[in-house]
Amino acid sequence: MLDAPCGYGRLSLPLARRGAIVVGVDQSAELLAQAEKDCGDLPANRLKYLRHDLRAPLPEGGFDAAFNVFSSVGYGAESDDLAIFKTLRDAVRPGGRVLVDTAHRDLVAARFSRGAKPAQRLAGGTLIVEEPTFDPISGRVNTTWYWSGRAGQGHKSASLRLYTATELVRLLQSAGLRFLSAHRGCSLEPFRAEGPDLGGPIALLTERA
Ligand SMILES: C[S@@+](CC[C@H](N)C(=O)[O-])C[C@H]1O[C@@H](n2cnc3c(N)ncnc32)[C@H](O)[C@@H]1O
Repeated sequence: MLDAPCGYGRLSLPLARRGAIVVGVDQSAELLAQAEKDCGDLPANRLKYLRHDLRAPLPEGGFDAAFNVFSSVGYGAESDDLAIFKTLRDAVRPGGRVLVDTAHRDLVAARFSRGAKPAQRLAGGTLIVEEPTFDPISGRVNTTWYWSGRAGQGHKSASLRLYTATELVRLLQSAGLRFLSAHRGCSLEPFRAEGPDLGGPIALLTERA
């Protein structure tokens, strides 16, 4: 399986522990260093990590499945996301599956309509507050996270392109992937645009055409 991007190996590691042969790819040296550290005694033929910008084709292929989860698209322009989807498409074998799980525009618009300012307290006690603004023309949410806790305080900003489910499916199809089904996040539950979060995160299952 190809976990791309894999971040600090949040999913690569448990999947490899359950018996999958996993390659995790990310462009962040810092996150990969953490992932490598957590590998324990798993041999490289079960789990390995690769530093790579997913907008460029990968040096290896033939994967049964690839997944891009936890809102890992939208950092750059639409052409960047198309390039990433093409990389995933080319990396799986014919008939191989590609799963994309992400926030989408309706979900975020629904939160904005309630004036919600997401806040969360981490296990160590640090409080994180997010202050997003949404530009409906570019379809981008520009957000700043402020945190404060025993370890200190700070802030960081990011901009994310939010797609509607329709736009996401089109983008995946443009990358040569056939749409199979839509799920409520990484679950087997079908995606339904209902409830206060209009369905929550969407996971789109596709296959290499
Ligand atoms: C929200 S994190 C999710 C990581 C992982 N999928 C997870 O579920 O924990 C997004 C990740 O995307 C990576 N990323 C963003 N653009 C990338 C690119 N063009 N190539 C490789 N990694 C990228 C970042 O370094 C970051 O680790």
